[in-house]
Amino acid sequence: FSDGAVAAALLPWYDRHARDLPWRMGPAALAAGERPDPYRVWLSEIMLQQTTVAAVKDYFQRFTALWPSVTALAAAEDAAVMAEWAGLGYYARARNLLKCARVVASDHGGVFPDTEDGLRQLPGIGPYTAAAIAAIAFDRPAAVMDGNVERVVARLFAVETPLPTAKPELRLLTERLTPDTRPGCYAQAVMDLGATVCTPRSPACGICPLVAMCRGRAQGIAAELPRKAPK
Ligand code: ADE
Repeated sequence: FSDGAVAAALLPWYDRHARDLPWRMGPAALAAGERPDPYRVWLSEIMLQQTTVAAVKDYFQRFTALWPSVTALAAAEDAAVMAEWAGLGYYARARNLLKCARVVASDHGGVFPDTEDGLRQLPGIGPYTAAAIAAIAFDRPAAVMDGNVERVVARLFAVETPLPTAKPELRLLTERLTPDTRPGCYAQAVMDLGATVCTPRSPACGICPLVAMCRGRAQGIAAELPRKAPK
């Protein structure tokens, strides 16, 4: 299959099956050319590091109700933010969250940089988060790779090299598959596919929009991938 065939199959699936999440913009608004607020995309991506979508939803709603913009968050008391973060864990994330909000407020006039490189300069924003914000908020064709994406791509191409050795190979494949049209929707489509269909233990290949292209499935090894190096 051609690289573009994956996005061509996945985007229509996403239009029908995208999870309705509080930081996402609905298909109608996106089709009308609206973009999600970079502040909300950033906040959701920081919260979603090491934390499930189900656990994040309520925290996200409370944070955005209390602090609806990055400048509002930048002006918050540290203790108030830490108190609202309580229960989400990994508290360094909350401290970096405030640091980042204050840098965006003071050095960028409250406007998030709109490139992967610019985003990477901010506290608490690593390669994954920079790519996710660039793609989702600014529709840049950044290669977004998290655990879900690694699994989907490893299965699609029947990559048998174990993790973490396989990472550079999976990254190259992820870059090749990332489309120039609707890269933000594409990135979230792969994440949703990994979370709801191409799941770790028993993937639901019968309802997968990529089943006809999946080499892991053709070889009968999809559920075993990605392999992991023994610890
Ligand atoms: N996990 C991390 N970011 C996500 C997003 N934007 N959509 C779904 N799952 C995610």
